[in-house]
Amino acid sequence: MSIVVVGSIGIDFVAVAARLPQVGETVLATQPLHIGPGGKGFNQAAGVGRLGAEVRFATKTGRGDLGRQARSFLELEGLLSPLAKESDADNQVALIFVDDSGRNMISVTPGASADLHPPDVAALGMGPGDILLAQLEIPVATVTAAARHAKEAGATVVLNPAPAAPLPDELLQLVDIATPNETELAMLTGLPTATTSDVVAAADRLVSLGVGEVVATVGSKGAIHVDRSGSTNYPSLLVDAIDSTGAGDAFNAGLAVGLSRGLELGTAIELACQAGAYCVTKLGVLDGLPTMAQLEDFVELT
Ligand code: RIB
Repeated sequence: MSIVVVGSIGIDFVAVAARLPQVGETVLATQPLHIGPGGKGFNQAAGVGRLGAEVRFATKTGRGDLGRQARSFLELEGLLSPLAKESDADNQVALIFVDDSGRNMISVTPGASADLHPPDVAALGMGPGDILLAQLEIPVATVTAAARHAKEAGATVVLNPAPAAPLPDELLQLVDIATPNETELAMLTGLPTATTSDVVAAADRLVSLGVGEVVATVGSKGAIHVDRSGSTNYPSLLVDAIDSTGAGDAFNAGLAVGLSRGLELGTAIELACQAGAYCVTKLGVLDGLPTMAQLEDFVELT
């Protein structure tokens, strides 16, 4: 069973300061600028690969220096393949602010990611038992096309609806597992997600709209699984957060790897929570994506 990730690759520019700026305010950073690979698609694909599962990554890099950097990061993570297309547009870039509690604010210029179209994902080569893992930093039409191919091939469709965007009915029906955070779940359903019971009610709504089941991430509190038969909470590990950027990506990578290994969904969610907790203890996303051995050591020591 292999995992196919369809999504973005970006270059992240990260400024760490004592606190996040307010509107109209300039805040001096307390650390040198951190530059590294990012994009939810790349982070999740690299996360899957580092955890030891077979992965292929359909994406689009941009022109110039940033596009070349993106391709070299793909190569370093073993993700460069004919599924990694090139565009004349600028590469995706993310501007990220992180405060000393590890909280972040992110703005993404999609560039080449917006140029990843349905024909680019027409030949994913998926088979029964494979897993498609997608996010929403690429056009929704492309995610829908990939999900359609995956279902026709007998694969499982996992959608991390980040950043949140309106989802067409067809896509909702194609998704086996959706993994929104509280903000995305609220935007997708129009319902509040402030409390655990709010999250369960909103996830129920998403299921009633056609999604198979929902694994909602709730920050340092872990995750909540909701399907037609009820809900289950999965607590996270208690850690000191350095940078929460990419925690959701590490979580989704862990979930997909758990499922590809045939673990029960609950056990796969526990693995995902561990990977998400590991990620917040590192600055930048790449260092926060563990190998299975690093993750096992981390869990033992935490
Ligand atoms: O999920 C974190 C990612 O979101 C960052 O790496 C940034 O690139 C944005 O896409």
